[in-house]
Amino acid sequence: MILYRSQIEGVGSYLPDRVLDNAELARMVDTSDEWILERTGIHRRHIAAEGQFTSDLATRAGERALAAAGMTGGDLDLIVLATATPDHTFPATATKVQARLGMTRGAALDVQAVCSGFIYALSIADNFLRLGQARTALVIGAETFSRILDWNDRTTCVLFGDGAGAVALRAVPVTGKPDERGILSTHLHSDGRHHDMLYVDGGPSTTRTTGFLRMMGREVFRHAVANLAQVVDEAMSANGMRASDLDWLVPHQANRRIIDGTARKLGLDTAKVIVTVGEHANTSAASIPLALAQGVGDGRIRKGQLVLLEAMGGGFTWGAGLVRM
Ligand code: UT7
Repeated sequence: MILYRSQIEGVGSYLPDRVLDNAELARMVDTSDEWILERTGIHRRHIAAEGQFTSDLATRAGERALAAAGMTGGDLDLIVLATATPDHTFPATATKVQARLGMTRGAALDVQAVCSGFIYALSIADNFLRLGQARTALVIGAETFSRILDWNDRTTCVLFGDGAGAVALRAVPVTGKPDERGILSTHLHSDGRHHDMLYVDGGPSTTRTTGFLRMMGREVFRHAVANLAQVVDEAMSANGMRASDLDWLVPHQANRRIIDGTARKLGLDTAKVIVTVGEHANTSAASIPLALAQGVGDGRIRKGQLVLLEAMGGGFTWGAGLVRM
């Protein structure tokens, strides 16, 4: 029997043109560039244009990942799109992207795990590929959080941005050689008891409206630090590796202080961490593939290097993935 592993063949991302910086935000709500920067590390964020939807961002990122992989939509067996801001209640935004990429077979589905969505989507696609149910997959994280923000609530509206990132995967036979490329493992967790700490106060079955994001920031921060430390350890020990084996940490980009705290716990030099929160803010499910695309695009992350991905979000959900690029 042939065993398969998922290899990342291409990475792509897309950010809307419009940039909203802290100074402009300070003219909209009672906040300041200093407060936002000191508490979060955020300078600016991208905002989708009127009439530009999550599917538009996802399609652009998907096209770029496919181009980098030398693949087309016609080569794909599977699309898994992580988003908490789908175009519509149904059908899945992934099916819109599927049509626009010219993929007419296989399956396309959305995954909802908020900021951990990309790790969840990667894990699902990886399992399809390992089991031989698909040979190729496009995993996308795409969000338009600007549409679910209460722009009068300074405690949340300064934190988020819009964007999309994607990776194209191909199943390759496991050879058993050391330093084999591919997704080594993924680790997922959720704990629904913490629903009220981070949620959207609307939805089709409750209020029939979309609602706005609500967050108890300080509590989420506390849980994020603990949960990320746990799952990062879990991913390293599952592979018999130590933090010193890592070439890069590509974390979910919610807050510079959380990112630095995780790196510190790992004993990892901050020079080995890809940080985009300053330029993108928190783009939820899009933040990891956006950061990955940045690291690959500017030549820092290279083939064969060991990369740890991690995220924590509403639910709570959290997870990690260890990948040899
Ligand atoms: O991606 C999903 C997971 N999400 C996260 O990981 C987010 C986790 N949480 C955080 O990143 C941080 O908790 C925040 C950035 C949201 C907040 O930072 P904090 O250091 O925890 O601040 P705080 O909520 O304790 O608020 C401190 C003060 C408060 O004033 P008082 O009560 O001390 O007088 C807030 O009212 O800062 C005030 N404040 C603001 N001031 C200026 C809250 N938001 C703002 C603001 N501008 N935008």
